[in-house]
Amino acid sequence: MFFAEGSPVSETETEVGTAPRPLSLDDGRPAARAWSLDPALRHLNHGSFGAVPLVAQERQRELRALMESAPVVWFPELPRRLAAARVELAAFLGADPGDLALVPNASAGASVVYANLERRGGGEIVVTDHGYGAVTMGAERLARRWGGRVRTARVPLDAGADQAYEAVMAEVGEDTGLVVVDQITSATARRLPVERIGVEARRRGVPLLVDGAHAPGLIAAPLEGLTCDFWTGNLHKWGCAPRGTAVLVARGPLRDGLYPLIDSWGAADPYPDRFDQQGTVDATNHLAAPAALDFVDRTWGWPAARRYMDELAGYGARVVGAALAELTGADASVDVGMPVPGMRLVRLPDGLADSRVAADALRDRAPAELGVEAAFTSFGGVGYLRLSAHVYNTAEDYEYFAERCVPVLGEWARAVR
Ligand SMILES: Cc1ncc(COP(=O)(O)O)c(C=O)c1O
Repeated sequence: MFFAEGSPVSETETEVGTAPRPLSLDDGRPAARAWSLDPALRHLNHGSFGAVPLVAQERQRELRALMESAPVVWFPELPRRLAAARVELAAFLGADPGDLALVPNASAGASVVYANLERRGGGEIVVTDHGYGAVTMGAERLARRWGGRVRTARVPLDAGADQAYEAVMAEVGEDTGLVVVDQITSATARRLPVERIGVEARRRGVPLLVDGAHAPGLIAAPLEGLTCDFWTGNLHKWGCAPRGTAVLVARGPLRDGLYPLIDSWGAADPYPDRFDQQGTVDATNHLAAPAALDFVDRTWGWPAARRYMDELAGYGARVVGAALAELTGADASVDVGMPVPGMRLVRLPDGLADSRVAADALRDRAPAELGVEAAFTSFGGVGYLRLSAHVYNTAEDYEYFAERCVPVLGEWARAVR
């Protein structure tokens, strides 16, 4: 471990506060050397697609080599290997392996619920205006199938836990057949009070799907104290697992009705075993995932890694926010009500990223024109830069953005006005 838990991590004092000291590998090299990220770019958007450390890439290569060496041995053995991987992933998440099914991504986790749930109440589904677009579109399709409709709870960006809870529960009534709420939101990088919503939804007998796509790795024990029928989370985001590694956790009486999206030989098996057979697929991602989780654990320990990520994200937001404020004359800091570790929002100059399409266009320009991978998001017609910080990031990444990219954002904003 690079520093003991509880020891100070900070070293550089500046007018925007303290920058955490960069993390190193056991051999003293910078943490980023354990990844294969292009050193010509600054990687400020871990949150969207994650990044896989070399050790997990290598483990996946080894497993693929084994698969290719004797496919007829590999595939019959695969369910047994996957069941063992489930035990490790469940331990990381603080879940019971008997509740946890393997799915390729959080979108699939939600899709499994949508595909299997029988119509309830009046067929209405409650979502929030912070929901992940693709998951919300799935809810809309299900509501149409049920002959109901989606009700969208409007949660102000800066709403605290009480206000957010009231906003969601105000939409839940006799006709509600399902509630879908993010544990950590995507565009707005904030938490929602899923624990309280879960208790009340259970009391009213309404199923709750918690979209925890960002939670594994970013928050410790994301299922602790959470009452919900269904929860889905990505290991390939903050957990750094190979892409295609996610889980669905189902704990209530409805879980035995959940079947994978692919009908296969496990169909007669109980939940969650039936998810371990998905026809002929390359499942080495799930099998290699523990190598990524163990790497962070062995090298820094997850609590210390999380603390670093959070301190660095806070520093990054202050540095970039100060540069934006100097550019526009307006405060760029953003109060998201219930913040998350490792991600922050700063407000972009007016006119930039005022819709999802405009935000995605900035994301696509950023590597070539700014030298960064970055997330631009939009909420309520306002554009934001969503900064992520993982263990391989350093204060310099955000200082670079403040010095080199913010002036270019000013030019882009003038061009769209
Ligand atoms: C809240 C939320 N839900 C779902 C997803 C979808 O994740 P995936 O693309 O891995 O299915 C994301 C991805 O960013 C997300 O942020």
